[in-house]
Amino acid sequence: MQLIDGKKIAAEIKAEIAGEVKEIYLSKGKQPHLAAILVGHDGGSETYVAGKVKDCEDCGFKSTLVRFEENVTEETLLSEVRKLNEDADVDGFIVQLPLPRHINEHKILQEIDYRKDVDGFHPVNVGRMAIGLPCFISATPFGIVELLNRYNIETAGKHCVVLGRSNIVGKPVASLLMQKNNPGDCTVTVCHSRTKDIKKYCLDADIIIAALGAPGFLNGDMVKDGAVVIDVGTTRVPSTETKSGFRLKGDVDFESVAPKCSFITPVPGGVGPMTRVALMKNTLLAGKKVIYG
Ligand code: GUN
Repeated sequence: MQLIDGKKIAAEIKAEIAGEVKEIYLSKGKQPHLAAILVGHDGGSETYVAGKVKDCEDCGFKSTLVRFEENVTEETLLSEVRKLNEDADVDGFIVQLPLPRHINEHKILQEIDYRKDVDGFHPVNVGRMAIGLPCFISATPFGIVELLNRYNIETAGKHCVVLGRSNIVGKPVASLLMQKNNPGDCTVTVCHSRTKDIKKYCLDADIIIAALGAPGFLNGDMVKDGAVVIDVGTTRVPSTETKSGFRLKGDVDFESVAPKCSFITPVPGGVGPMTRVALMKNTLLAGKKVIYG
């Protein structure tokens, strides 16, 4: 069994990005600029956004954080999105999710100029990805494919079972892995909360991508020998062993699954750091204007 070290790969990619940013700055005097809109004070969102700001510093990017209180109106948010669309100094921006219930998330995401949509959530980017055109690919699927690539994991002709059908992980990763590409060329099965007998599909899988948000869901009895297991779960569970009082638990019961695997990602230290660095990669692409000119 080989442990996939997402932390190490993400650090390598970050260093590659920082090197490139230095060159761009020396030749053009411009740093890529990422902006983030954060609504309210949700603990998880605060942590994620603080991480994004720090990643920008590490990569040599400029970053801007725009904050609104929980009771912000949809119209105010829409006008901030339009402002960032028009701001020539901002290369890319994100609206941190989830948004409060009174805000229509789809409406906000669709207002983002797809050429600045470094989260890859806009329907234009989602659609272009589905038909294999250049686009911003959302961070977690991008990070997963990059891990498979950097570990030279064979995907062509393999049966990949994706657990979960979310718009930000399950659907896009399934779409990427079925593309005529490397990594890709998989036969993909997507399982979800209404799938009957998930175990049957998992036992046939060469690659399992677990993105259900159900801590410890996948156990050793559900995995065949030699499988590759990618754990996307990051549920916060209470812990007496950490300062914060919680720890992250993946969708995979690592103890029972790891001994059966050829490759497995840990939580933390697997997909999480790759998701973070993928946003930086997209911001660099936005700064260089390589996708949409
Ligand atoms: N909330 C959880 N993950 C993400 C993400 O990748 N992007 C944004 N904007 N919000 C999130």
